[in-house]
Amino acid sequence: MEQSIETTLVVNGATVTRRIQARQHLIDFLREELGLTGSHVGCEHGVCGACTVRVDGRIVRGCLMLAVQANGCRVDTIEGLSDSKELEKLQQAFHQKNALQCGFCTPGMLMAAQDLVRSKDKPTREEIRAHISGNYCRCTGYQAIVDAIEEVIQTGAIHG
Ligand code: FES
Ligand code: FES
Repeated sequence: MEQSIETTLVVNGATVTRRIQARQHLIDFLREELGLTGSHVGCEHGVCGACTVRVDGRIVRGCLMLAVQANGCRVDTIEGLSDSKELEKLQQAFHQKNALQCGFCTPGMLMAAQDLVRSKDKPTREEIRAHISGNYCRCTGYQAIVDAIEEVIQTGAIHG
């Protein structure tokens, strides 16, 4: 029989308490139990970055963390950061620079990009590339994505 564990976490500012299957990954809990389907599931083994969410202020792979491990943590998803407008400048820049096509990778890409925007004053283009190197995009060739992130950083349009 599957073991479930009572777990309390704060998701996008709202406290959630559920009994969660011990083996359920955080990304599956967010998507399937809470309906937060903005974060995507690609490789399911920590390679593609589509499942990137923020836990206690740091970005993590939602497919590599069990939901019960988030007990007591604050979890922020693409929905929360969009609603709070924290991502507004990056979203505008991605749109203007044509930095997305199918958009499957974009939520994770924005989470990773915002992590860089928050953490460092003026990263170089190479540092931007390195920071998003764990987020795969099949469509854009990355050039436009790096352009968009660079523009937000250079114009000082930093939020959060
Ligand atoms: S689905 Fe998590 S890194 Fe690919
Ligand atoms: S826009 Fe399609 S995978 Fe990135």
